Amino acid sequence: MQEKIPIAEFRNVSVWFDQGNSRIEVLKEINLKIYEGEFLAIVGFTGSGKTTLVSLLTGLLKPSKGEVLYRGKIVEGPDLERGVIFQNYSLLPWLNVYENVALAVNVVYPDWDRKRRDAQIRKFVDMVNLTPALLKKPNELSGGMRQRVAVARVLATDPELLLMDEPLGALDALTRGNLQNEILKIWGANKRTALLITNDVDEGIFMADRIIPLNPGPNATLGPEYKVSVGRPRIKASLNSDPNFRAVRNNILSYLADLGEAAKQSKSNGLKLPDLKPLTPGLRSFPFRRKAI
Ligand SMILES: Nc1ncnc2c1ncn2[C@@H]1O[C@H](COP(=O)(O)OP(=O)(O)O)[C@@H](O)[C@H]1O
Ligand SMILES: [Mg+2]
Repeated sequence: MQEKIPIAEFRNVSVWFDQGNSRIEVLKEINLKIYEGEFLAIVGFTGSGKTTLVSLLTGLLKPSKGEVLYRGKIVEGPDLERGVIFQNYSLLPWLNVYENVALAVNVVYPDWDRKRRDAQIRKFVDMVNLTPALLKKPNELSGGMRQRVAVARVLATDPELLLMDEPLGALDALTRGNLQNEILKIWGANKRTALLITNDVDEGIFMADRIIPLNPGPNATLGPEYKVSVGRPRIKASLNSDPNFRAVRNNILSYLADLGEAAKQSKSNGLKLPDLKPLTPGLRSFPFRRKAI
């Protein structure tokens, strides 16, 4: 992140949904720059507008007000340069695992010969440990397996901007850890830009250069940014003894705890309770988690 070139930018972006006579106000005047080459994480509460934020970057959703730019141009619609892994990614049900990944690979690498594309597909299916399920259809897979196919599919296409909306939430700790490392490897090796939405602060700190909380909605705004000045490659087992890690973790957790406290006190505005949770075993839970749930 030497040069500060924003690859993507939100300028005064608000989003609301009109439903009959009522209006659901989701995001309010969001200003955000995502810099080329960085790994940015956004953490936030359920229902605060994280998926809405990602949908804006994909172009699947237009802002009600303001602009979302990618490389200086207003985002008009989905494009392969902005690859996305959604929380509940829908695979094509009539295609097997291989074919679901192939579909994306064939579109992104039309010039490659069959053998090279085949190798690419198999490499990424293997990376998510689904080689034994290569010929299975989505309805024969568990939720976690389907999520892994979605991860493989996007990583195999190596997008410039990798958008991840709670991509690892449904997975067991081991798979999750492995995929975190694979994502970091691809991001680092290919000098890509990544945006990770997560409800797991520790996952955010482990992976990102910068973490920004999304304050609870309605009319959610971005909180302060926290820089993660922990060197790479990061080793999970030794993070707890890294003073930078501990400091940034404490700062983010107390910010979120204050938000949780404030949310609890405003009873009438329909705020949902936080679903944030720590990943690293042995460290204390969020203070608000005990009270709120
Ligand atoms: N298409 C839509 N129509 C109406 N309300 C929506 C729509 N999409 C999202 N919302 C509302 O916007 C808020 C934020 O949703 P979302 O971005 O999915 O939050 P998060 O991903 O942080 O859990 C929620 O209250 C949700 O109900
Ligand atoms: Mg969401």
